[in-house]
Amino acid sequence: MKIRTWDNQTIDLPLPDTYSTKKNIVALPGLIDPHVHFRVPGAEEKEDWHTGSKAAIAGGYTTIFDMPNNTPPCVNKATLQEKTTRIEHMLREADSPLAYKLWIGATEENIQKIPELKHDIIGIKVFMGASTGTLLMDNPDMQEALFKMAGEHNIVIGAHAEDEAELQKGKKGFPGTTDVHDHSKIRDRSAAVKAVSHAIVFAKTYHTTLYILHVSTKEEVEIIRKAKQEGVTVYAEVTPHHLFLSEQDYNTLGTKAQMNPPLRTAEDQQALWQGIVDGTIDTIGTDHAPHTLEQKALPYGQAPSGVPGIETALPLMLDAYHKGKITLERIIDIMHTNSTKIFSYIPEKTWTIVDLDLIKTVRDQDMFTKSRWSPFAGRELKGWPIGVVINNIYYPSHT
Ligand code: DOR
Ligand code: ZN
Repeated sequence: MKIRTWDNQTIDLPLPDTYSTKKNIVALPGLIDPHVHFRVPGAEEKEDWHTGSKAAIAGGYTTIFDMPNNTPPCVNKATLQEKTTRIEHMLREADSPLAYKLWIGATEENIQKIPELKHDIIGIKVFMGASTGTLLMDNPDMQEALFKMAGEHNIVIGAHAEDEAELQKGKKGFPGTTDVHDHSKIRDRSAAVKAVSHAIVFAKTYHTTLYILHVSTKEEVEIIRKAKQEGVTVYAEVTPHHLFLSEQDYNTLGTKAQMNPPLRTAEDQQALWQGIVDGTIDTIGTDHAPHTLEQKALPYGQAPSGVPGIETALPLMLDAYHKGKITLERIIDIMHTNSTKIFSYIPEKTWTIVDLDLIKTVRDQDMFTKSRWSPFAGRELKGWPIGVVINNIYYPSHT
């Protein structure tokens, strides 16, 4: 069937004939999600690669980069190999065409060992502040050694940039709190701002390619904008939840709106959108971080941080396109093209097929993620993926 591409070409793709009468079917380049947590090994009750890969395809993604905060964490050759074997097995069982790469986690022990794994990884994830899992590198000397090594070997560092000392200080101010509203105060913006500033200094000194994960505040956007102007090789990611949710949403979502870094204000949100428009923000990473509803139902303090997001990111962005907040071209930059450049990732020729006119409401029961919920449930969105094309085979989003 002849399909219009996002840049007004026409291509022949193997879609079902039922779509031939629909006017607003468009083929985009296959989307890349540089930031997911598919939970293998160690937390398969939250997600595995059967459900995760289905969720990815349903969301219009053909490639994902998976994070290392597993149990055990993915930090060396043995854990990388073991994780890869499990993933390959699950993808084969699921008959999934999803392409993937793995991040390795930085530890105080593995810095000098990482270069030999360079070709097996997409980058190094460093937790400058603690989040889900045990990975943490808060010692500035170690951080510096890591940036130096990565600069010398031309490996991308993906930084979870929240300063651990600031986080600890924040926690002390709210002993024993069970009020989720305190989450954004405990993990105050100062933690993010401080860590991003430090990371940029290291990147500048050692010519490291720095990819800042989940930028959430207007101050970070400003710091990154300035660093880019000065020629630092720094790139910035934003998540759908920081773009489409704010601190207000604790009122209705409770701990379902708890993630790290936390939700911020409407003003921060505006700055993130401005960063997307002016090129300060380079990518959307979903930070798809599923936890079960039972785990999320625990009181604040015990509930884990993180939200699923890979199935709703594209519809949220297409809906924003209809509302005039972003162009289709920019959506493709930040959900495909920029990731190929930042990570020197050469994807297979794949397509994400969207129906720009399709209006649907997000519902928990429609989610393929094993966690089966979405913080965006109840939102009516216009513009949805209907499938992907990989190796000239059509994989529908919903079967
Ligand atoms: O909210 C989060 N969840 N932030 C992280 O840094 C980790 C993630 C997870 O793995 O659950
Ligand atoms: Zn993450």
